[in-house]
Amino acid sequence: MKIIILSRNTNLYSTKRLVEAAKKRKHDVEVVDPLKCDIVIEKRNPNIYYKGGYIKEVDAIIPRIGASVTFYGTAVVRQFEMMGAFTTTESEALVRSRDKLRSLQVLSRAKIGLPKTVFTNYSRDVSGLIEQAGGTPLVIKLLEGTQGVGVVLADTKNAAESVIEAFNGLQARVIVQEYIKEAKGADIRAFVVDGHVVGAMKRQGKEGEFRSNLHRGGSAEIVELSDEEEIAAVKATKAMGLGVAGVDLLQSSRGPLILEVNSSPGLEGIEKATGKDIAKSIIRYIEKSV
Ligand SMILES: Nc1ncnc2c1ncn2[C@@H]1O[C@H](COP(=O)(O)OP(=O)(O)OP(=O)(O)O)[C@@H](O)[C@H]1O
Ligand SMILES: [Mg+2]
Repeated sequence: MKIIILSRNTNLYSTKRLVEAAKKRKHDVEVVDPLKCDIVIEKRNPNIYYKGGYIKEVDAIIPRIGASVTFYGTAVVRQFEMMGAFTTTESEALVRSRDKLRSLQVLSRAKIGLPKTVFTNYSRDVSGLIEQAGGTPLVIKLLEGTQGVGVVLADTKNAAESVIEAFNGLQARVIVQEYIKEAKGADIRAFVVDGHVVGAMKRQGKEGEFRSNLHRGGSAEIVELSDEEEIAAVKATKAMGLGVAGVDLLQSSRGPLILEVNSSPGLEGIEKATGKDIAKSIIRYIEKSV
């Protein structure tokens, strides 16, 4: 089979592992930088021009599209779809997953457990906003934040108001969210491929830190999910229309609550924590689907 991995960097752990797994199963695999693809559109005959030639007869693609290149990356994925290639992440689902507000709306409609969350367009009624989110303590997140940057735990109403007003003043859009204390500074990453959890890890923030991000000094270990957690992760992935996803969830006293569904989840953390060959699961998913 001819498989293309859409990735900007061949040296990334995830990219390397996918290449390795594809080769091991005797596929013809190539890494293509989506930003270097020219999309050729005319009546029928969709094409992609890359490094001096047309890309031909691709059976499947594995999009690894970073958040900063969503727009162009998605257009390239869509073009491969037009050319009849199978994709582990459909362009529509990719776009949906990159919009946090839309994602939570989709998950909510699918009756999936979520921390109570309020989005605001720089509301001046900060007090009302805090009340809507269930009062303090609460978590305030920058809409554009990542790796725990711009995620703040506000213990008191005063603290919450100051933080929200500061972000508002900077014209930085925020999400105000109920704080799940029982999670105790940990969250769970469930890696879902083709409707099944193929690996799960628990990430624990370092002492005194409520954010479990590995980039912030958190640690990860393999975890056995409860049935309820497994069902929630699979259901969330399905609601988002994703074939491959990294589902982040919090363990709360009212069951699992989904934080986010990631459409280009990294392989390094999960493979190292679980010792599982996640790359192989993705290649097998392609073999089954093409
Ligand atoms: N409502 C909450 N209650 C308790 N802990 C939370 C809550 N929201 C986030 N956390 C903790 O903070 C961490 C970082 O939050 P989150 O994942 O939302 O932001 P991020 O990692 O910066 O963004 P992204 O995951 O979108 O890249 C989570 O992994 C979790 O451990
Ligand atoms: Mg996160």
